[in-house]
Amino acid sequence: MTHRIAIIGGDGIGPEVTTEALKVVRAAGVALDTTEFDLGGQRYLRDGEILSDATLDALRGFDAILLGAVGTPDVPPGVIERGLLLKMRFALDLYINQRPFVGTAPGGTKPHEFVVIRENTEGPYVGEGGVLRKGTAHEVATQGSVNTRMGVERCIRYAFELASSRERKHVTMVHKTNVLTFAGDLWQRTFEMVAAEFPDVGTAYNHVDAACIYFVQDPHRYDVIVTDNLFGDILTDLGGAVSGGIGLASSANLNPARTGPSMFEPTHGSAPDIAGKSLANPIAAILSAALMLDFLGEAAAGERIRAACADAIAAGVGEPGSGSTTQIGDEVAARVTC
Ligand code: IPM
Ligand code: MN
Repeated sequence: MTHRIAIIGGDGIGPEVTTEALKVVRAAGVALDTTEFDLGGQRYLRDGEILSDATLDALRGFDAILLGAVGTPDVPPGVIERGLLLKMRFALDLYINQRPFVGTAPGGTKPHEFVVIRENTEGPYVGEGGVLRKGTAHEVATQGSVNTRMGVERCIRYAFELASSRERKHVTMVHKTNVLTFAGDLWQRTFEMVAAEFPDVGTAYNHVDAACIYFVQDPHRYDVIVTDNLFGDILTDLGGAVSGGIGLASSANLNPARTGPSMFEPTHGSAPDIAGKSLANPIAAILSAALMLDFLGEAAAGERIRAACADAIAAGVGEPGSGSTTQIGDEVAARVTC
């Protein structure tokens, strides 16, 4: 079966790493029918398009979207992030951001394996708030966090369903219920209600500040973590840093209800400082493509790609100075068994 995939290489190192991800997917024997979309900061600077409704409608027709990275220093912060990346997350209802972490924390000896389920369509990302008396001494800026019962519940339920399919069957909720008492209470009650439906799944709760300590000192305690949009954003950068670096961190923006395509992208950004130099590690993009294959019903191929990446990493591929972006892609592709 051929999968129809929209490719958004984007800005900076995005196109380079996406090319390698596609190379490895093809080496795994999966047939893709790809269509490239020229979107991102560079496109915006050229003709003003960020993500028009027509382009969004075109994207809806695909089985999945593979994205490299978007954002360029030539465009003010927020324009492309809100107008392209977050617009896709909201408009396509990609309510789960799934980020798996496998590795050994710096200074540690024991490998960990856990996955963060980040709510992806609510919280402070909604853009609730505004500004008054801008630029004056009396300026007021507010930025709210929107948490709906439906949004919180579908995210937590996804985390429990995932945990019940895993060996350790454990979910930790991360929040800040001691300070964010309104949103925290909604999250806490919803967590307890959903947990009651999964008696074979163990549970724990950590405040987000404490979770930062455990990520570094005792990440082995985690199996599945479920958390809100902003905490999840911050925690998953830390997750990358304790799991071999952000160059390995993959992510899936999922619409589990499958009312449209899901989107797959590395957790890292466009890294304009190293763009075009073939210095980027494409493994995060390759592992994101493996998550895409899982979601498209090609889990065996996804597993072969993860094994090839693990083999390559064990052989030192991807370490600084070990080779160009293209060479790293070739090394992984050569290790994929069909
Ligand atoms: C991420 C990124 C985005 C986010 C930015 C680019 C808007 O940091 O995917 O983690 O904050 O979600
Ligand atoms: Mn982030």
